[in-house]
Amino acid sequence: MNRAVYKYLLATYGRSVSLRVGMVGILAQMFIVRVYVAIVMAQIASNIAAGHLGNAKHLALVYLIVYIIGTLIGTIGDLLCHDGENRTYSQMAIRFHDKLINKDLSFYRDNQTGYLTSVFRQHVDSAMELLRFWRGEALGVVMSLTVPVIVLLVAAPKVGLAAAGVVIVQLLYIVWSSARANSYRKAAHEIYRRLTGEVSDEITNMVAFKSGGVEQVAQTTVRKLATEEAHLFWLRRRKATLYDFPRGVITAVGTTIAVYLVIDGASSHNPSSIGLIILTITYMFQIIRNVAVLPGLVLNHDDLVTKLYPTLQYQTDQYELIRDPVEPQELVVNRAAINFEHVSFSYASHSEKKARIPVFTDLNIHIAGGEQVGVVGLSGAGKSTLANLLLRFDDIEGGAITIDGIDIRNVRQTELRRKIAYVPQEPLLFHRSVRENIAYYDDTVSDAEVISAAKAAHAHEFITKLPDGYATTVGERGIKLSGGQKQRIAIARAVLKKAPIILFDEATSALDSESEQIIQRALPEIIGKQTAIVVAHRLSTIAGLDRIIVMHEGKIVEEGTHASLLKKKGRYYSLWQKQTRQ
Ligand SMILES: Nc1ncnc2c1ncn2[C@@H]1O[C@H](COP(=O)(O)OP(=O)(O)OP(=O)(O)O)[C@@H](O)[C@H]1O
Ligand SMILES: [Mg+2]
Repeated sequence: MNRAVYKYLLATYGRSVSLRVGMVGILAQMFIVRVYVAIVMAQIASNIAAGHLGNAKHLALVYLIVYIIGTLIGTIGDLLCHDGENRTYSQMAIRFHDKLINKDLSFYRDNQTGYLTSVFRQHVDSAMELLRFWRGEALGVVMSLTVPVIVLLVAAPKVGLAAAGVVIVQLLYIVWSSARANSYRKAAHEIYRRLTGEVSDEITNMVAFKSGGVEQVAQTTVRKLATEEAHLFWLRRRKATLYDFPRGVITAVGTTIAVYLVIDGASSHNPSSIGLIILTITYMFQIIRNVAVLPGLVLNHDDLVTKLYPTLQYQTDQYELIRDPVEPQELVVNRAAINFEHVSFSYASHSEKKARIPVFTDLNIHIAGGEQVGVVGLSGAGKSTLANLLLRFDDIEGGAITIDGIDIRNVRQTELRRKIAYVPQEPLLFHRSVRENIAYYDDTVSDAEVISAAKAAHAHEFITKLPDGYATTVGERGIKLSGGQKQRIAIARAVLKKAPIILFDEATSALDSESEQIIQRALPEIIGKQTAIVVAHRLSTIAGLDRIIVMHEGKIVEEGTHASLLKKKGRYYSLWQKQTRQ
């Protein structure tokens, strides 16, 4: 775990030159403050003991200058580190975000929004914190526990050995005891992500809770998770605190041995032994103090590592099966003829059994350029799946889907999707203004174009009645609009896209019959002469199209014009009968 995390940190923060140089500056300052000070004080004491007062004063001045220079270097180092850190932080956030948004659609279907949001936060935050952790106290503690020991080993080997003993035994003990708590830590971080996921899922679906009068259920779930998180925290802390007692004993014994050794070797006639006493006492004091903060630091460190580690799995290629070809073909669309040739497809299931959910086997659909096809069928027939496959949100298992003879797997996904104006079953609106929702991240479109698209989708009228017209914010996922209004905005967006292929998946399902009729009449204008696939439950919507495909359980069971299908008196006929009778 540690190795993976540090490999990652080295590959990200480790690349920053300012950070590397800055670290050297900080180290230099630390050396002066934590190591050099004691040495110079010992030398001054020895000189005083030997009566060399002039030398002692001289050393004090040297100390002053060295300390000031050290502080200056440290300050510059700090600034450089901040600079490197900030730059790498934003790069990392961008890269991780890029990774998170470029997964296959199945990834977002399988994961909770809030969970992923907290993964994102935990990733960038804990990486940054881990770095700050080292730049800050941790590095100082490491220096205070290593360099003084080395100095003591040289100046008085026996004392040095006792000091080394204290440090090594302590370190082993702390690392061992902290590792005992790792399982609690991992579980606590996982619960944290789940709790965030749960809360965001609830807020998103608040209407469902409130309308059912079951807010209590939401409370119970969150209470359970929060209590569990707190309990794990307690277990972890209790363990750490209990492990602390033996540690204190080890420190006391070790330092007493070191001091005894100094006392034994001291002689009042030898001025240099005064220096050694001062050096030993200062260093031992420093070691005791730093050893005391060590458990907290190791705890903090392991905490950050266990937080960062699970987020690294999102850096892998998992859920990135749908890839652009190495040498993408250009998708030149002239007629926009669409062919599904012997297509077979099943959805992956993440159940224990790993069984797949079959939707199509050997599906063949041939749509000529400019042809406008309606798709009908009972719920679950595979209509939306058809749209998913054409957009390459999922990859087919057998056969091929082509546009003007070009296999959609041979072109860039963005290029493919730019050629298709898609209105999904559930209109997807952003928490932005109506205008932005229609223009859809395109800054180049003019207001006139937006308005003309809105008019075509019969949305202009209601938009102008909104409090701020086109500038009105629609709320998260368009919550401040009615279902039919959302759909009309989504249609306007599709109109504005001017793509050669139109793909409507129940684009008018939420409209009342009057608005639906208006849209239905406007459909020829909206679609124009483009190739279109229009999925609809309400048959009247698609009755006027060139051809109607009736799907049932992933198969085409009937196809033809509205009139010919009625004549057939088959499935379409009975659906039509049912709907017109209503
Ligand atoms: N992401 C998914 N994972 C697993 N199975 C899925 C997924 N999406 C759809 N399915 C299944 O695939 C089948 C076809 O679903 P699809 O959404 O294509 O139906 P549909 O014809 O659009 O239905 P509706 O009219 O209700 O929109 C259904 O059995 C459905 O349960
Ligand atoms: Mg559907």
